[in-house]
Amino acid sequence: MKKNITPTQQEVRLGDGEMIVSKTDLTGRITYANRTFMRISNFAERDLLGVQHNVVRHPDMPRGVYRFMWETLKSGQEFFGLVKNMTSEGHFYWVFANVTPDLDASGRAMGYFSVRRPPPAHAVRAAIPLYEAMLRLEREVGPATAPDASMAMLKKTIADLNTTYDRFVLDLYGQKAG
Ligand SMILES: Cc1cc2nc3c(=O)[nH]c(=O)nc-3n(C[C@H](O)[C@H](O)[C@H](O)COP(=O)(O)O)c2cc1C
Repeated sequence: MKKNITPTQQEVRLGDGEMIVSKTDLTGRITYANRTFMRISNFAERDLLGVQHNVVRHPDMPRGVYRFMWETLKSGQEFFGLVKNMTSEGHFYWVFANVTPDLDASGRAMGYFSVRRPPPAHAVRAAIPLYEAMLRLEREVGPATAPDASMAMLKKTIADLNTTYDRFVLDLYGQKAG
């Protein structure tokens, strides 16, 4: 169960070369968490295992990002994205996330697998105004249509840049300068 945690303005950073790894079942319930995940999120293993992955959800993240993530995963594709997460104390940490379906020998999804690395600062700077615009739209349209409306905004923003979502995110991750 997700407890009510008040967000703070304090940032926690992943070290260079560090990775947060987790696995979930098909519903997004955590089945594995590595030590870096526990240390950065400040949750003990018993607070994570069997719990929905939204346990680290930050309220600054638009619902449309997760709608798009699940749409991508359900279609059998892997997802890349910049995610702001929240620790047990309410501190925030940004990650560059890769989430993939965890397939059995016959290619059927058994659950999902995620690896998160420290994002470049310019990628976070690019994500913030887009996510803020998505959140504003979500508040305007109300909870029922918020995820679809803001996912549509995300897709349109990418389309207007004449690129694909994956290329947009991976380019941001790959760029050194900025
Ligand atoms: C493998 C995997 C990893 C995930 N990692 C995160 C994460 O780091 N942070 C997060 O907020 N949601 C993560 N999610 C998505 C959550 O399951 C959930 O959809 C999201 O937090 C939105 O929650 P809400 O619908 O309660 O708003 C992950 C899902 C999967 C399958």
